[in-house]
Amino acid sequence: MSLLRWPGLVDVHVHVREPGATHKEDWSTATAAALAGGFTAILAMPNTKPPVVNEASLNLALDAARRKAHADYAQYLGGTATNAAELPALARRAAGLKLYLSHTYGLLWLQDMSLWPALFRAWPKNRPLVVHAERHTLAAALFFARLYDRPLHIAHVAYREEILTIRAAKERGWPVTCEVTPHHLFLTAADVADRGGWGEVRPRLGTARDRDALWDNLAVCDVFATDHAPHTREEKSWPNPPPGFPGLETALPLLLTAVHQGRLTHDDLLLRLHANPRRIFDLPAQPDTWVEIDPAAEWTLPERGYFTRADWSPFAGWRVRGRVRRVTLRGRLAYDDGRVLVPSGYGHNLREA
Ligand code: NCD
Ligand code: ZN
Ligand code: ZN
Repeated sequence: MSLLRWPGLVDVHVHVREPGATHKEDWSTATAAALAGGFTAILAMPNTKPPVVNEASLNLALDAARRKAHADYAQYLGGTATNAAELPALARRAAGLKLYLSHTYGLLWLQDMSLWPALFRAWPKNRPLVVHAERHTLAAALFFARLYDRPLHIAHVAYREEILTIRAAKERGWPVTCEVTPHHLFLTAADVADRGGWGEVRPRLGTARDRDALWDNLAVCDVFATDHAPHTREEKSWPNPPPGFPGLETALPLLLTAVHQGRLTHDDLLLRLHANPRRIFDLPAQPDTWVEIDPAAEWTLPERGYFTRADWSPFAGWRVRGRVRRVTLRGRLAYDDGRVLVPSGYGHNLREA
């Protein structure tokens, strides 16, 4: 059995839920799940309670991270109707600025387009700007990036019309990058039609045509990101279930299975899970850090037994090929066959290096 030895993977889109919703996830469980999935660094989204939108809330999130994280991390700021003026001074401490231009879970929706210019102008051009923008709103976001002459990263591209629009922008040479999630690559709305709240996610799963368009335009997709969005089993069973799927522990096995099936290559994965995230988000190298993977291990993604506190997966029962065996983070064996071996607080803030 020969193991692959890969550099530490980076997930640029993770909902850690701390502060405010640690019954769903916290910095310890999220980063344990990351290590188990082969991710040695995560970028944490700002739609927490309170949301991370100013110095006080950034300090709150980073203090919890410093005490509890097992893996390395950085924390995003979120744009609001009123915080543009405060953002530049915090830019170097943040993973990037996240703008919620389409409606989703949390309180950060910037529904009124007249709120956008102040935020596009305020955030430094050389720091990452990420948008949740679906369908026509995605085109509006590209227009604003153009108007204010700055790079833009588009989160979780889900639909054919979106990837074609981004392709057109790239063909013009516009500085736009984007990510796709495993669930938009491997699932369609039809696959979850009978699952009620368990199938709710934003952007909603597309049609087979949408999914196929992502595969057909993989060259346009710069990054694979999980959008790990843990909610509890109880919450997913409610009448108004919160949208989101856990994803940290299933992404790599699913993608390696696609490699086994000849749908993409190991280099395709390394580019989108390591090199491109580091380049686009300007992340420092993690020295003496690697992931050992058994590409031949066949197993079934379980119903339970994950490190994520949500402890479920939309892919439970899927037969996959490829398994993370060990993770070494900054010279220390951090994960070994189902056990996290580094303590809470071992993780570094990648924006403090
Ligand atoms: C995310 C969440 O739960 O925070 N939910 C989701 O369905 N993806 C929010 C988001 O990423 O849009
Ligand atoms: Zn989103
Ligand atoms: Zn998200």
